[in-house]
Amino acid sequence: MPGKKHDVSRRDFIKTVGVAASVASTTTATLAQGPAAVGPGDVPITLTINGQRHQLQVEPRVTLLDAMRTRLDITGQKRVCDRGACGACTVIIEGRTYYSCSMLAIEAQGRNIRTVDGLAKGDTLHPVQQAFCDHDGLMCGFCTPGFVMSTVALLERNPNPTPEQARRALDGNLCRCGTNIGVLKAALSAKGVTRG
Ligand code: FES
Ligand code: FES
Repeated sequence: MPGKKHDVSRRDFIKTVGVAASVASTTTATLAQGPAAVGPGDVPITLTINGQRHQLQVEPRVTLLDAMRTRLDITGQKRVCDRGACGACTVIIEGRTYYSCSMLAIEAQGRNIRTVDGLAKGDTLHPVQQAFCDHDGLMCGFCTPGFVMSTVALLERNPNPTPEQARRALDGNLCRCGTNIGVLKAALSAKGVTRG
C-alpha cells in the first residue's frame, strides 16, 4: 500500500529502538555471565584416548586430530583434507563417528575417544583390520584408518549390515584410488566385532 512505511509514528519508532537496545543490553549481560573465556594461550586439558588418560597443554584452537598427532604421538588417524571432507581422521566417540579434524581438542574432554591405534590386541588384528587385509581394502593407507573406524562403528551397531547399510555408513569416507569395492567386502565379511 503506497505510503504504508510512513505509518510508523516517531513515537513508535523511538519505542522500537528502546526495546531493541534493551534486548541488546540483556544479551550482552547474558554473554558476560556465560562460561569464562579461555586462551588464546595454552590451557590444560585431559583427553581419554583408547582407554588412557592424557594430560596436555594446548591452545583452545587446536583440533583433536592435531592434539593427538602432534602432541601425543597418536598418529593412527591421518590428516588429509583437514576440513571435514575426506574422513581420514575419523574417530569413534561413544559409538558415533566424528571427524577429528573438525572438533576442538578442548571439546573432546570427558569422552572416550577411540582411534585405530587401540584396535589390535598385541599381534592380533581387530576383525575389521583383518578383513581389510583379506579383501585388499587398502592401497595408499592414508584413508584406511578412517574407513576402519567407520566400519568398526557400523558393525558395533549392526553386526550384519546389508550392502546398502554398509555403503551409507561409509559414505563419509573417500578413497581416491579405487579400493571402495575391497572396503565394502571387508565391511560385509568382518565377523566377531564386539562393542568396544
Ligand atoms: S582430514 Fe578430517 S575429514 Fe579429511
Ligand atoms: S586407499 Fe587411500 S585413497 Fe584409496
